[in-house]
Formats: sequence, C-alpha cells, structure tokens
Amino acid sequence: MHCPCRGKLKLFAASVTFVVLLTWLYLIVGNLENGRSLLLYSCLVEQSDSSYMERDMLEMRMREVVEENQQLRLQLSQSQGAVAQVQDGNYGNQQWVASADTGPEDGENTAEERSNQGGNHSDCVHRPMVEKCELIHVACVCAGHNTSRDVVTLVKSILFHRRNPLHFHFITDMVAHQILSSLFQSWMVPSIQVSFYDADELKSEVAWIPNKHYSGIYGLMKLTLTKALPSDLTKVIVLDTDITFATDIAELWAVFRKFTDKQVIGLVENQSDWYLGNLWKNHKPWPALGRGFNTGVILLLLEQLRRIGWEQMWRLTAERELMSMLSTSLADQDIFNAFIKQNPVLVHQLPCFWNVQLSDHTRSEQCYTEVSDLKVIHWNSPKKLRVKNKHVEFFRNLYLTFLEYDGNLLRRELFGCPSQPSSESIHLQDALEELDEDDQCYDFRRERIMVHRIHLYFLQYEYAPTEDDADVTLVAQLSIDRLQMLEAICNHWEGPISLALYMSDAEAQQFLRYVLASEVLKNRKNVGYHIVYKEGQFYPVNLLRNMALRHANTPYIFLADVDFLPMYGLYDYLRKSIVQLDMAHSKKALVVPAFETLRYRLSFPKSKAELLSMLDVGTLYTFRYHVWTKGHAPTNYAKWRTATTPYKVEWEADFEPYVVVRRDCPEYDQRFVGFGWNKVSHIMELDAQEYDLVVLPNAFMIHMPHAPSFDISKFRSSSSYRYCLTMLKDEFHQDLSRKYGSSALKYLTAERNI
Ligand SMILES: *[C@@H]1O[C@H](CO)[C@@H](O)[C@H](O)[C@H]1NC(C)=O
Ligand SMILES: *[C@@H]1O[C@H](CO)[C@@H](O)[C@H](O)[C@H]1NC(C)=O
Ligand SMILES: *[C@@H]1O[C@H](CO)[C@@H](O)[C@H](O)[C@H]1NC(C)=O
Repeated sequence: MHCPCRGKLKLFAASVTFVVLLTWLYLIVGNLENGRSLLLYSCLVEQSDSSYMERDMLEMRMREVVEENQQLRLQLSQSQGAVAQVQDGNYGNQQWVASADTGPEDGENTAEERSNQGGNHSDCVHRPMVEKCELIHVACVCAGHNTSRDVVTLVKSILFHRRNPLHFHFITDMVAHQILSSLFQSWMVPSIQVSFYDADELKSEVAWIPNKHYSGIYGLMKLTLTKALPSDLTKVIVLDTDITFATDIAELWAVFRKFTDKQVIGLVENQSDWYLGNLWKNHKPWPALGRGFNTGVILLLLEQLRRIGWEQMWRLTAERELMSMLSTSLADQDIFNAFIKQNPVLVHQLPCFWNVQLSDHTRSEQCYTEVSDLKVIHWNSPKKLRVKNKHVEFFRNLYLTFLEYDGNLLRRELFGCPSQPSSESIHLQDALEELDEDDQCYDFRRERIMVHRIHLYFLQYEYAPTEDDADVTLVAQLSIDRLQMLEAICNHWEGPISLALYMSDAEAQQFLRYVLASEVLKNRKNVGYHIVYKEGQFYPVNLLRNMALRHANTPYIFLADVDFLPMYGLYDYLRKSIVQLDMAHSKKALVVPAFETLRYRLSFPKSKAELLSMLDVGTLYTFRYHVWTKGHAPTNYAKWRTATTPYKVEWEADFEPYVVVRRDCPEYDQRFVGFGWNKVSHIMELDAQEYDLVVLPNAFMIHMPHAPSFDISKFRSSSSYRYCLTMLKDEFHQDLSRKYGSSALKYLTAERNI
C-alpha cells in the first residue's frame, strides 16, 4: 500500500485484466470449436456402439475443457497477481521472482509466500534475478517423427508462459531437423532463435555405451552437450521432450544464480525408488546418491563443466561402471548419477516441483502441497497419460491444453523487448505494405501472402526409392471432413502418397487418433502427412497442393484429388506407362480419365470393360457431365472407349484433367484460393511450357459423392467472390503473357470465346 508505484500500477493492472478477459473469451470460443469438430469426428465412426463411446468421450472431453478453462483462468489470475507487484515500469519478470528465491530447502512454502506477496504489496523492491529481455537458452535432443510431435507441445507450453527471448538448441537427426526447421520458419514467433546440431555427428561419442533404455542412442547425447553446443554458450536448460511447463521458464533460468561456486549441474531428485535398488529381487541399479537424480530437466553450467574436464570425467565414470553393469538401463541418467555419486559437490539440487515425475512407483505427490505449486510435469514417456497420481486429471488437462492450443496465438510480440525480425517476417511485412486496403479483392490478395505454419511428416514416414527410377507419388490435399476417404485411397493405391492436410491444432490431434485407430492407415508407412495449420478465411487449395507436391519423394507425381478413387492397379500401370512413354526425356502430362458416381455404395469396376458397361447403364458418368462438361471434355471420352494406345489431345479452355507429370513440373498458382480456377491455371501453364497432354487408354479414376464444400457455396452465392476470381484470372493471364510471350495470347483469346 505504501508503494510509490500505485497509480501506474492500477492503470496497468486494469489493461492487463482486459487482455486476460479477451484471451479467456478466445479460449472458450476455441474450445467450442473443438467440441464441434469432435462431433464431426464421431460421425465418421460407423458402428453404433463405438459412436456411443464417442459420445461419452465427447462428454468427458467437454467437461475437461471446462476444467481447463478454469485452470487457465487461475494461471492468468496469478499472472495478474504478478502485475500487482509492478514498479518503476520494470514489469514483466516479477511473478516468479518470489518463488525463484525459495531454494530447495524451503520449496514447500512457495505457494504461501507467493500469495502473501500477491496480497499485500510490501515487496515492491524485489531485485529481479533474470534481466528483463535476457536471452534464455534451452537444449533438447529430438529424433524421429514421434518425438518431433512431442517437442511441439513442450515448446508451446514454454512459449505460452514466457516473457523472455528464447534460443532453442535442438540436437536432431535428419527427420527432426527437416520437421522442426520448417515448423519454426513458418511459425514466425517473435524473439525466438533456433539452432540445429547434427545428432549423427555425435553418435560416435556415445555409440560405444551399451544401453537398454527406450530412448536409444539419442538419450545418451545429453552427455555430449559441452561439445555439441557453441563454445561461447555458458549455460543452458536441458529438457526431455516429454515435459510440460506450467510456469515461466525464466523462473527456472533464475535458479542458476543460486548455484554455489562449485556447483555445475542442477537436477531434481528421482522421485521413484529405482536407485534405492529395492524395487524387485536382485534389482541392481547403477550407483547413485540416495534416490538418484532425474535428468528430464537439467541446468548445465557449460563453461564450468568444460573447465573441470567434464568430457573426460563422465567417460571414465561410464567405462568403470560398465565393467560391472555391462549396460545402462536409463541411458544418460545412469551415467549422470554414477558421476554425481563420486562428485556430490558439483550438484545443485533443484526443488522437486521443477520436475514432477509421473511414472509407476513414484512419490511425486509428496513433492507439492498445492497443484498450483508445480512448475514442470515430466511424463516419463511410453506410459504417458496413464499414471497413478491423484492429480493426473489436472496434469492430463494441462497437457491436452497445450497439445491442442492454437500455435498461431503464440506468435505475439514480447512486451517491451526489442526483437530482430526474421527474414520471413520482414518479407511478409513488405508484401503486406504493398497491398492496397481499399482494393475490393484485398482479402484474396492478403490470403495469398499469408504464411501458414506447417508441420511436415506429422506421422512416421518411410520410403525407399524403387530401382526403375519410374516411381510415382499420389499427391492430394484435404481438410478434416474428407478424412474418411483416406482408407479407401490407401486400399486402391499401394504406392507412396503425399498429402497436405489443412487443420487446426486440435483437428491435427483428432487426425492422429483417427489414424492410430485405423488398421489400414496405422500400418501404412509410405504416406507423408503434411499439416498446414488453418489461418485466414479461404481454403488455400493451391498452397496445399504445392506443399504436397514439393514433399513427394519420387521422380513422378500423380496430381489427384482426395475425393477420387484410382482404379485398382493404377500405381503399377502408371509406372509401366512412365517407362514406355519415356517420360524421363520428354515433357508429357499423362491424363487419367475421370468419371463419377452419385452412389455412395458403388461396386467399384474391376476393369475398363466393367467401367464401360456401368457407363452405359448410367451407374457412372464422365466427371462433371452434368455441371461442368468443359472441364474434362478434351479428354475425348468417345475416343477413349475404344482406344488401346495412348493418344495426344489438345489443350482447350477450362480443361482440368488429372495428370501424371515429372516432379519438376511448374507449381500451382497460389493466388487462386478457395474454389475456382485452381487446376485450370495449372494445366494452362503446363501447356504454355509445351507439355504434351497424353491420355492413357487403360487408366481411370472415379469421383465419390460428398456434400459440397464450404467454398463452393460461397462461390455460388457471392457476386464479389466471382468478381475477384475474374480479377485474379486477368492478372494470371497478364503474368502468363509476360512469362511466355505472345504464344500465351491464345489463352486469353480462348477465354474470350467462351
Ligand atoms: C500482508 O500480509 C500479511 C500476511 O498475510 C497480513 O497479516 C497483513 O495484514 C497484510 N497486510 C496488508 C496491508 O494487507
Ligand atoms: C511412433 O508412434 C506410433 C504410434 O504411437 C508407434 O506405433 C510407433 O512405433 C512409434 N514409432 C517409433 C519409432 O517410436
Ligand atoms: C527414476 O527411476 C525410474 C524407475 O522407476 C525410471 O523409470 C526413471 O526413468 C527414473 N527417473 C524418473 C523420471 O523417475
């Protein structure tokens, strides 16, 4: 009450309250959206008993969502409490200052202390232990598709609470490097730096250690950080990927200042009885001090470690212990513990709430008195989410909240810290400034330059190139409402598939559950799933197509749509045709004739002969026969009926066949968003580049019925939508003429003649 900062404080607190309310509202709306899409999901499940289960799950999930919101509100109100301590404009880092002061010995009092300080403002003159805007370094070892997904949830939980610039150091294999580098580049979170270090180069450092832990060789790489990280990096927080933060990471960073001169490693005691060696008969763990330490959260003073010769020291320890232990059971953790047993003075013991370990036989409940005290939850991987702890529901909610949290919301600027914008964001700013806000089609143009966050290879993906060099990938894009097509497509096409999926964070998790519940999808490893996170008001169809196209790994691609089923055997037939037609040395686009059925239950034709007789009795039609004949008329279905050899056709206006081309073909034009002209423009450009359009006599694909997409109805009902599409078309024509000269004039003329 006696603080000089009262006036300013009130104003600031008021504005923060407002922001908090807004955020909360947003979260509610976001979660309602979840509920809706979950309903959708349950419609996909066919058997009735499982749809009951789905409903129960939905109800449960809704209850969880309500709890989540309460919890988030609690967290947000705590940060409001922090604001109440603001003084002299030095806001931001106050909340944790109080608790950072509590060492391991008085950790239990934290909650009381914090509420004291929140309650009366006698504590205005606290000295912050982390400078405002101080850069915090975090290191993580991450390999493979699954771990790359986990790490995103960890990063979200850190970003959600953070108030400082962060530098992430990722030790990655090639898979994780590709996924995480494209993710962070497209995420464009301000005040974040990301560095990658090649795990393969570090393998030789630890490969000699026999290890039985599920984390494999990557688990051991934490031992090599003094060597792997830049030599001028003095300290770093090292985290496992199965960790969720419930507080600002700066609070943990501040603990470095509590290290004594000798201490170089900060760790939390292992909360299981593992190292006591009494878990079962003849249980013989590695040597450790007491219960041992858990290495899920480590504070490393890299500089001092290098100085005391850590690299030789841990090696000697490991070599000596391995003589009797033969292999490690808990990877790096065994070696850290054996090392510490010999050098106990080097350890700074962290309060246990910095690593609340959830696994069987743990005492994690003794670690905290109030659930709100804990700061970091450690899932101890494979058994994730299935643990015995009375607060497990709370933990699960916290985890699920970040799992499904809209990552786009974390793009917010840090309050009051200068940041160096990335080249991507500078580029985006420039492009935005060039737009004219009074332009009637501003929304379309804005959409085109939008940077969507992407998560490549969301699920495990394996592909080995074929020897004939004629392999072909099916390329398509979809949103969650077309998920039910995937199984059928996989049954019709055994070759590689590259899919771009347009989804929210929550939908991506539903998608993951859907795949894991499907025998067909779960076992298919040659499908690359690339998530493009939702943003903006139009479906970015050509951006999605390009994303899927770029990440096809074969020399040829089949540019398809997800609501078509290829004929059985198309994959083999295409590969043969690719060789026969010498695609490697000629510019060809092989046309796969398209048909459609209006029947939901079609007995799919096994051959061209069967297809033709179905066509004759009206079970099948040529594609868009009723509404848009021009789109496929140039395929010349009459000729196709009797054709036995491939034949060339000429380009005509509005032709939009499904084609097989070399992967180096031109990309789709991303100015076309939503419905209309997205494929037409691509085929036009192929023709402008003098591709021959060659129809395959024994190939076909069939469009399966579905409800019209949202963007189509928009197109049909809105005159300004149609107006803008015309504008974009005109501009596309101009660009085409600029690129291909007078020969491109024919497209304009063809257009006029319609
Ligand atoms: C400050 O907190 C203490 C301890 O909770 C309490 O006894 C005291 O009344 C508070 N003072 C004010 C001014 O609120
Ligand atoms: C990745 O996760 C899936 C699904 O949980 C699992 O089946 C698969 O074995 C995991 N892959 C690896 C390499 O751990
Ligand atoms: C401690 O010991 C347990 C054995 O129960 C082991 O699984 C775990 O990895 C160690 N650390 C943690 C996180 O509890």
